[in-house]
Amino acid sequence: MVREDLILGIETSCDDTGVSIIKTSITRDNPEEINLDILSNKLASQTELHDKYGGVVPELASREHLRSLLPLTKQAFFENNLNPSCLSIISVTTGPGLKGSLLTGLNFAAGLAAALKKPLIPINHLEGHILSAFIESKSHPKRNFPFLTLLISGGHTQIILAKQIGKYELLGETVDDSIGETFDKVSQELGFGYPGGPIIEKLALKGDPAKYPFPKPLLKKQGLNLSFSGLKTAVIREIVKCRTSKERHWKNNIAASLQNTVSILLASKIRDAITLTGTDSLVVSGGVAANNYIRKTLSNLCQGMQVNLRLPPKHLCADNGLMIAWAACLKSLFQEDYCIKELKVRPRWNIATRD
Ligand code: KG4
Ligand code: ZN
Repeated sequence: MVREDLILGIETSCDDTGVSIIKTSITRDNPEEINLDILSNKLASQTELHDKYGGVVPELASREHLRSLLPLTKQAFFENNLNPSCLSIISVTTGPGLKGSLLTGLNFAAGLAAALKKPLIPINHLEGHILSAFIESKSHPKRNFPFLTLLISGGHTQIILAKQIGKYELLGETVDDSIGETFDKVSQELGFGYPGGPIIEKLALKGDPAKYPFPKPLLKKQGLNLSFSGLKTAVIREIVKCRTSKERHWKNNIAASLQNTVSILLASKIRDAITLTGTDSLVVSGGVAANNYIRKTLSNLCQGMQVNLRLPPKHLCADNGLMIAWAACLKSLFQEDYCIKELKVRPRWNIATRD
């Protein structure tokens, strides 16, 4: 055995409290492979709490994190018959995200690290999402760099060139709303709850994706930036019209047409990004990456361009503590300067800047 670690990962950047414990090891016989044992991956979802407000209420989110962190962590140790003193690393999301939520997680993790005298690794939430695409294969992504990343979540829509662990270049991003926000808002307008993405996906299964030719902002514009606010407004305008029409299944058709338009926009910009960078590998991650229609569209694109597509399993697309613990494992192994001197939350942390 060359090295073995027991890592705790804490995620509280938005509305889900994630706590995970992983055991990782590298053996002398096969130093290229990381043995990953997921001992625990616990999630306390706040969906019901925020649903009635149509979106995440920051003050309520922080309070819920505070309530959930200790019991979840205790349970994770108890179920594995582990003592916290066995930990070798504690990791926590310190940005980007909601300030109060991030602070709750950081204070908890920093307190634990100080009491146990263990190293604390701050993790960028977006890097956690990106590296989560390598959890299933258990292979460390070191060999796979550089690769292109499409990060699609509630807070972000970004096209990133991943150069190595800890080194990222932002190639393009939404100039207004994220895709997750667009789905959430449209779901609310249709009279459904939060989060909207899974609801839109389900409605779209019985809808006609060609029914409404919604606008495709920035499609023909050069560059890798995206925009969704004009699309969102057009969809909402159509919803208002449909409410008084006699058309059946209009909600399904709206959802299917929106999902199709978003997929066309993403595929077009990703095609350009692949050509521009000459990459042979694409990682798609973040909550919206759980969407089957988007997964299929990007998979078809990659097949046609002979690009290897890597997607996290669907249950790891949404926020979770496992991706934070996994990112800490990779950083401690492969990034020499992974320690950040000043420990603080960074609500608007840009992945392209180290801190
Ligand atoms: O990554 P995530 O869990 O949290 C952030 O970091 O933002 O992403 C949450 C977003 C929400 O906007 C939610 O509606 C969307 O991901 N989402 C989906 C699906 N599942 C979650 N969007 C489309 N299709 C889905 N199946
Ligand atoms: Zn996220």
